[in-house]
Amino acid sequence: MPSVVLTGAQWGDEGKGKVTDFLAEKADIVVRFQGGNNAGHTVVVGDEEFKLHLIPSGILYPEKTCIIGNGVVIDPAVLLEELDYLAKRGINTENLRISERAHIIMPYHKKLDELIEESKGAAKIGTTKRGIGPAYMDKAARTGIRFIDMLEREEFAEALERNLQEKNKLLAKVYNVEGFSRDEIMEEYMGYADRLRKYAADTSIIIHDCLQAGRNVLFEGAQGTLLDLDHGTYPYVTSSHPIAGAACIGAGLGPTQINKVIGIIKAYTTRVGEGPFPTELKDETGKHLRDKGFEYGTTTGRPRRCGWFDAVIARYTARTSGLTNLAVTKLDVLTGMETIKICTGYMFRDKVISEFPASLKALAECQPVYEEIQGWQEDITGAKTIADLPEAARNYLRRISELAGTPVSIIGVGTRRSQTIVIDTLF
Ligand code: IMP
Repeated sequence: MPSVVLTGAQWGDEGKGKVTDFLAEKADIVVRFQGGNNAGHTVVVGDEEFKLHLIPSGILYPEKTCIIGNGVVIDPAVLLEELDYLAKRGINTENLRISERAHIIMPYHKKLDELIEESKGAAKIGTTKRGIGPAYMDKAARTGIRFIDMLEREEFAEALERNLQEKNKLLAKVYNVEGFSRDEIMEEYMGYADRLRKYAADTSIIIHDCLQAGRNVLFEGAQGTLLDLDHGTYPYVTSSHPIAGAACIGAGLGPTQINKVIGIIKAYTTRVGEGPFPTELKDETGKHLRDKGFEYGTTTGRPRRCGWFDAVIARYTARTSGLTNLAVTKLDVLTGMETIKICTGYMFRDKVISEFPASLKALAECQPVYEEIQGWQEDITGAKTIADLPEAARNYLRRISELAGTPVSIIGVGTRRSQTIVIDTLF
């Protein structure tokens, strides 16, 4: 019953798309379990590049079942755009299944995401403005609309009416903007329902049956630990749970059914949006990492903030997600550096601490304590095995693994599917 969860070990953008795509080859089902189209994956297959936001990267393999689980929030317009984009590129999407229990992003969620951000001024979160937060707010408030509700005209009309009564008042009275027309949304969303109906399923059953039959299931996390609503740098977080435990809730299975948890971790650190970032490099080295690593958001195009590898974060993810393995991505970006720094702890006031603090004020005061490691100059983009890597690169990986207390099982040395070194077979 091999089931593997992939989780982002930093602030998202660790290169999960590439690792998912790589492991999907051995999986029978690939499942998304949280987030929405705030995520963005770039996957390179041969000479072709695919950008995905909502549909699991496994869709690029024609025979795999791909599931959008109940924990995901779905913008149906974006989903249809993505389906059309894949169809145009010759990708078969017939094997997509969407949980009937997943919540739907509505036009007022996107509007509110913008307005709430604007109203925060300098304290803004830096959201992707895709309506993710407001959709999860409605889910928790028990006023959200689920995929199954969108498929039933009457249900949807009633839920929409109830929501607009409240949302239009909020938009007019608090934000001083015009509200939404019930008829326009009805027409738009009933069109989406017609096209998406065929994908609806009780996806927990599909996953359960697959595991019972001894087949492989891959759970593809979006974002990363430090964007987790509970364990991240709150309030500079997303509104779902990227940590591995969320796979159970967001896909509908129990913790006893997860076999392995792989933390995807970049060989350095990046972050988009606001909030403290202890190892951030605001100098030429940071700029070099951004340019060499193409560190610009897939979803918003925003430049990512870049910094050295932070082992405090790696340990934190290892604990909160129960990592069994690490996949270190973008190791090739570090090639050519004289020396490379690893943050092993934080200097907080006059003490060195080794655990990630809950207080953002404390985190903002933390100064990284670095250890310096010899860099390497050799091109590693053609390395096929660990033995092909220069000794300095192997030392760097060994040190990361030691500090995180987790073995490195996969190493990314370039953007292509083939530029991946596998140390352990995970399925
Ligand atoms: P939201 O998820 O759009 O509400 O944004 C909340 C925070 O999460 C912001 O700082 C975003 O930049 C960040 N965020 C959301 N999705 C991603 C992602 O896929 N990668 C990196 N950051 C993300």
